[in-house]
Amino acid sequence: MNTTLSHTIHTDLKKTHATRKEIKTFYDEATEDYTFWSQDFNMHFGYFSFGKTNLLRRDTMLNEMNTQVLKRLELSSSKQFVADLGCGMGGTMRHFLDRHAALSMIGVTVSDFQVTEGNKLLKKYPAVIVKEDFRNTSISSNSVDGAIAMESFCHSGHSVDTLKEAYRMLKPGKRLVIGDAFLKKSPHKLCLGSSYSYRKLCEKWSLEGLGIIQEVKENLEKIGFSKVNVEDISPRVAPSVFHVPFAIPLFLLKKITKGEPIKKQSWDNLKASFYALTSGLHMKDFGYYLITAEK
Ligand SMILES: C[S@@+](CC[C@H](N)C(=O)[O-])C[C@H]1O[C@@H](n2cnc3c(N)ncnc32)[C@H](O)[C@@H]1O
Repeated sequence: MNTTLSHTIHTDLKKTHATRKEIKTFYDEATEDYTFWSQDFNMHFGYFSFGKTNLLRRDTMLNEMNTQVLKRLELSSSKQFVADLGCGMGGTMRHFLDRHAALSMIGVTVSDFQVTEGNKLLKKYPAVIVKEDFRNTSISSNSVDGAIAMESFCHSGHSVDTLKEAYRMLKPGKRLVIGDAFLKKSPHKLCLGSSYSYRKLCEKWSLEGLGIIQEVKENLEKIGFSKVNVEDISPRVAPSVFHVPFAIPLFLLKKITKGEPIKKQSWDNLKASFYALTSGLHMKDFGYYLITAEK
């Protein structure tokens, strides 16, 4: 590897890309753009399931991801209370609430925009979005019947304090489900192309960094979680990732024809989506996983 380039990449990998302020600003400014990605305001990738989803209709795959996460929570049909840690506009919350009659939910986010607009969409449901840090919430200990984190814990690098907070709020015997991209090896062992994509992905999406899958599993077990099940669902996620090169030009075209300016955060979002695609192509270095862990 070219030593100067290698040095630059490795030095940059040590940087913390995401301050809470940066994450908040990113989501305050770019959340609206997600309508181009999902009519239902799903701010994650999808899950392809033959016969249930349509490769050409992205939202069928994005909503199937919600269904898969809900299934893994194994909620009972009685009164249940679930926390969505990093809930975005509450797309996953609404999906769950439409399918479980006795469910109430709390979502946490750092974005004021998501609190205001997300709560409007949740008006008819027993649910609320609050502005809190998922590393330190006001949710009582041993109070929730399930906790989920869909493409949100990457903003804190799937850190131990983030996982501990989820553990604290869960009732014994209840589950945490995480859906996210992870590294398969240390950032320093990534090939040149992966390193570059990874650095750009973190920078543009204000991510602290992706967790290393084996380390995250071990950390969950050290914290006290049992039955930690790690599923590599990359092939099921890939079809929705391949929507990115089509969705981005369409979004740009719409903005340009309407004469609307494209904000810095929108550009960052678009570039990050592109780097998600280039990272996904490095299958030896990155994977998309569903992790289920029981307290
Ligand atoms: C990519 S969005 C995913 C949203 C949602 N889970 C979904 O799949 O539609 C990431 C979310 O994580 C939230 N987030 C990032 N860091 C956070 C933190 N420290 N505390 C709470 N929320 C956070 C953001 O505000 C945003 O809502």
